[in-house]
Amino acid sequence: MRVLVTGCAGFIGSHIAERMIDLGHEVVGVDCFVDYYPRALKENNLARLREEPQFSFRELDISVEPIESVCEGVDVIYHQAAQPGVRASWGEEFETYTRHNVLATQRLLEAVKARGLRKLIYASSSSIYGDAEAFPTSETALPTPISPYGTTKLAGEHLTYLYWRNYGVPTVALRYFTVYGPRQRPDMAFHRFIRAAINHRPIQIYGDGEQTRDFTFVSDAVDANVAAANLNIAGVALNIGGGSRVTVNYILQLLGEISGSELHINYVEAQKGDVRHTSADTSAAARLLGYTPVVDLPAGLRAEFDWFRKLDVRLQRAADGH
Ligand code: UGA
Repeated sequence: MRVLVTGCAGFIGSHIAERMIDLGHEVVGVDCFVDYYPRALKENNLARLREEPQFSFRELDISVEPIESVCEGVDVIYHQAAQPGVRASWGEEFETYTRHNVLATQRLLEAVKARGLRKLIYASSSSIYGDAEAFPTSETALPTPISPYGTTKLAGEHLTYLYWRNYGVPTVALRYFTVYGPRQRPDMAFHRFIRAAINHRPIQIYGDGEQTRDFTFVSDAVDANVAAANLNIAGVALNIGGGSRVTVNYILQLLGEISGSELHINYVEAQKGDVRHTSADTSAAARLLGYTPVVDLPAGLRAEFDWFRKLDVRLQRAADGH
C-alpha cells in the first residue's frame, strides 16, 4: 500500500509514518515546516524516516502549491498537517490557522475527490468541544469551540464530512485528546514541564492547575489511525482519548517522582482559549475501531522524559523559548 502523511515532520505525523514503514507500506511524506517551532526539531523527527528506502519526502505547502503529484497512486492519506496550538491562535495569527487548517484541508480533499482513495483520516481535536457540558464527552455533544484554533479544526472536520457526503471520499476524523510522548511539540505542557524540570527552571502553570485533560499517548493515537484506515468505516468523527482524566497538578506530582528533583512551580494567569476540562467518551472508537488506549500516564510521561533527556543538547536548546 502507498500512503501519504501530511505534516510528516511533526510530532504525530512522524510517528504515523514510522508505523507505516514498519507495516511494510510505501510512505510519501509532505511538510511545509511552518515556523511555529524550530525546523531542527522537525528534521530530527524525520531522521529515521530519511534512512528508509520505502520513504520519500517532499517539502510542500498544501495550502498553496499544486498537490496532485503527491496524491498519485496513494491509497490512504493521514492528514496531520496543521497549524497547531490553542493559545497562540488569537489576533493576526488567525490567518495562518485558517490557511493551514481549513484551506489546506479543502485543497487536499479537492485533489483526491475523484481518485478512489481507500481512506482519508483527518487529525481533529478535542478543542472542537470547547467547555463541554458533560464528561466524559461523547461525539454527539454539540461542538462549541472556545478558541480560534478549535473553530478551524472543526471547520476542517466538517470539510472531511461534506466531501464524504457529496463525493463519497471515505473520510474519518479522529478527535485527539492532548497527545503526548516522545517528539511532543515544544509548546505543549509535558514538553515544557520536562524541559523546565531538567534545567531546574520554574514551571509555569496556567491558572490553578486543577484543569483536567484526558492525555493520550502517541502510540495509542497511531493505533487508532491504523484501525481507521483498515476498517470499513467512513463519514464519522471519533474521540481518541488516553483513558483517564487527570489534573495538571497531578502531572506535576508524577513528574516530580520521575525526575527525582523538586519542581519550582509558578502559577500564572489562565490563558484565553484553554478549556477547563476534557474527557473522552471512547465507546464509539472502541466499537468501531476496537480502540483501547494501552499506555498509562506514568509509563507515557517517563517515555517522554527519557526522550527529552537523550535529545541532543543543541535540539534541547532549540526548544527553549517555546
Ligand atoms: C493540545 C494541543 O496543543 C492541540 O494542538 C490539540 O488540538 C489539543 O491538545 C486537543 O486535545 O485538542 P492542550 O490541551 O492545550 O492542547 O495541551 P497542552 O499544551 O499539553 O496543555 C495541557 C494543559 O496544561 C492546559 O490546561 C494548559 O493550560 C496547561 N499548560 C500548558 C500549563 O499550565 N503550562 C504550560 O506551560 C503549558
